[in-house]
Amino acid sequence: MTSPGVDETVPGRLLYRGAEADVVLGDWQGLPAVFKVRKPLTYRLAAIDREIRRQRTAHEAEMIRHAKRAGVATPFLYHLDLQTSTIVMEYVGGKMLRDLAGQMTANDAEEPFFKFGEGVARLHAAGMMHGDLTTANLVSREGTLVFLDFGLAHRTSRLEDHAVDLRLIKETLVGAHPGIAKAALDALFRGYEAVAGTPKSRRVRSQLRNIERRGRYARVT
Ligand SMILES: Nc1ncnc2c1ncn2[C@@H]1O[C@H](COP(=O)(O)OP(=O)(O)O)[C@@H](O)[C@H]1O
Ligand SMILES: [Mg+2]
Repeated sequence: MTSPGVDETVPGRLLYRGAEADVVLGDWQGLPAVFKVRKPLTYRLAAIDREIRRQRTAHEAEMIRHAKRAGVATPFLYHLDLQTSTIVMEYVGGKMLRDLAGQMTANDAEEPFFKFGEGVARLHAAGMMHGDLTTANLVSREGTLVFLDFGLAHRTSRLEDHAVDLRLIKETLVGAHPGIAKAALDALFRGYEAVAGTPKSRRVRSQLRNIERRGRYARVT
């Protein structure tokens, strides 16, 4: 008998094909489930490749658990299969924040982006950064904002790392959703402050400005 994830191919509908992983919508014990399968990369030596995929899969699952413990909405983990570097998790049906943001007015941005800020602050307070906070990695479901894709997350309490998380959000918003960027960022920072408190919020925003200043100098030279 094969268990899901043990085959190299998981039966189901391919949701997404990434550079490292395929994301397949399938079934786990009767529940709609997502299989995130890290694929073999042939340019790496097979044994090393297997080990890297195994470690990244285990790490991502651990980061999802850590975020959930911190009170952030994430998919439930159903199963972890390190043999095939597969994470089986709850399918979060809902709308990608990226798609929602594309149709939002500045007013609509308030609620989801306030929640976005609260979630980021909870991750940071728990001593981690997400590492890939683009609007494609958040799904809004029945008023809850669910954080996906902890592939680049790691444990860190450094102010700089936390500011880097905010920097990516800002870049994404300004680049992809300029019409609502200001309103969305205002709401996001208010949500962040509501959870992190004013002193931490001020420090991380000041660090964000430092990063932006460094970025400008870097571009000039
Ligand atoms: N648990 C899930 N529920 C619903 N959709 C998901 C889930 N996990 C991933 N997806 C979808 O698959 C896409 C890619 O998954 P992600 O974990 O972000 O992979 P990658 O690390 O390659 O970016 C997401 O942007 C999202 O649309
Ligand atoms: Mg992603």
